[in-house]
Amino acid sequence: MTGAPTVIDAERGAHTAGAALRVVVVNGSPSQKSKTMGLVEVVLDALRTMLPVEASQVDVYRLGQGFTGATERDDVTPEIEGMLRLAENADLLIAATPVYRGSYPGMFKHFFDLIDQYALANKLVLLAATGGGDHHALVLEHALRPLFAFFQALTVPVAIFASAGDFDGVTLLNPRVHGRIEMALADVTDLLKARATGAQAPADAGTGDGTSPSSDHKSRGPAARKQYDAA
Ligand SMILES: Cc1cc2nc3c(=O)[nH]c(=O)nc-3n(C[C@H](O)[C@H](O)[C@H](O)COP(=O)(O)O)c2cc1C
Repeated sequence: MTGAPTVIDAERGAHTAGAALRVVVVNGSPSQKSKTMGLVEVVLDALRTMLPVEASQVDVYRLGQGFTGATERDDVTPEIEGMLRLAENADLLIAATPVYRGSYPGMFKHFFDLIDQYALANKLVLLAATGGGDHHALVLEHALRPLFAFFQALTVPVAIFASAGDFDGVTLLNPRVHGRIEMALADVTDLLKARATGAQAPADAGTGDGTSPSSDHKSRGPAARKQYDAA
């Protein structure tokens, strides 16, 4: 598939179009019946009970030659450019992937290789992964979180992992993982509230005296960061 990203629920849950939280899932699984997406479905269902949500999904394995053949942003087709912008403009990015060889799949990384270096600065990113067993659960901390640290994104402190034994097929059963999802989403809503009211959430907190990252470059947008890094 090289068409538009799957729009999961463009209208569902929104009081007004402007009020819906734009959630974009970047899916690193090639599977049609995917445990990773089974996990994400539970996350989105729980999020919809808390907020109006407009969710879209980019399946990196289905983006085709316009994606796999591009090594730089200038090389991508307009269609792929649209997918990249969708992710760059999300209110909440969900980075969800199976573990492959102790890390994320190459195709998942390729998508982020094409994302603008500063476009995810300060963006809320929720990390989720599935693996065959629990041995590689720390892929979230050792591979995914550093990737988004490069982008200066604001990763949600609680990341979500599930392994084969937590599922019946692609249906997530383990209540411990459901609890983890609730914890992660409590962080998401707290951070969103703090942003909306201008209050300082722990992850955003600075000294307020102009010397901390929060009160200097961190609380500004991508353009300010670019300038700061170049200085
Ligand atoms: C090429 C490949 C490499 C894998 N490497 C690992 C691994 O290193 N660690 C692990 O726990 N599971 C590994 N797995 C298992 C998948 O991570 C696991 O089955 C995952 O839940 C599949 O997700 P999906 O159903 O969303 O595609 C691998 C699977 C494949 C196909």
